[in-house]
Amino acid sequence: MSNTSARIAIAYHSGFGHTAKQAEAVAAGAASVPGSVTDLVPLDELTDDIWDRLAVADAIIFGAPTYFGSPSAGFKAFAEASVKIWAPELGWRDKIAAGFTNSKAMSGDKLNSLVDLAVFAAQHGMIWVGLDLYPGWAESTASIEDLNRLGSWLGAMAQSDADLSAEKAPPETDLRTAAALGARVATVTHRHLRGAALAA
Ligand SMILES: Cc1cc2nc3c(=O)[nH]c(=O)nc-3n(C[C@H](O)[C@H](O)[C@H](O)COP(=O)(O)O)c2cc1C
Repeated sequence: MSNTSARIAIAYHSGFGHTAKQAEAVAAGAASVPGSVTDLVPLDELTDDIWDRLAVADAIIFGAPTYFGSPSAGFKAFAEASVKIWAPELGWRDKIAAGFTNSKAMSGDKLNSLVDLAVFAAQHGMIWVGLDLYPGWAESTASIEDLNRLGSWLGAMAQSDADLSAEKAPPETDLRTAAALGARVATVTHRHLRGAALAA
């Protein structure tokens, strides 16, 4: 592990609290890697404070609920406002990036949201990190409790039953998958910082 700390920001929107719960699990996973400092950044109000906190992050993990097959308008407002970071200097260039999304259906077209988040990160010159987990719940003997039960490589997916509050959904299995993404991003960020220090 690196001697310096790795700062992992989790920048997320959540309309009704379910994706916020997923964000907390991502943060807990990142914090479980020694030397990591996490910052949960809700995107409800795009204050100067938000941009300052993201500016000092070594990694930003983006999260949004899937609404009509893409990231929520709340997240998109943040994405469009980030043009002031993008121009004129690609302010987030070479930061590590990753993403997560939550919706009510097993599919619910969640993949489209992760693709959107990855393209967003790419357009900022960031370095995308996916999940390194084989799909769970994909064999006759497999369990719905498996890690990565929704089978995504691009980022962490969670599913929240529409009639359950954020106290009860998404389920523990998806929160463990979210934590796995946070831990992987923290580990990769430490390596990235060590490499940058050697190259300096
Ligand atoms: C406007 C709107 C559009 C939605 N579209 C989808 C969708 O395309 N696919 C899906 O599975 N769920 C969809 N949902 C359900 C939400 O993704 C789901 O309730 C999620 O848990 C909400 O997360 P949040 O509490 O963080 O906002 C939609 C909900 C809303 C309000």
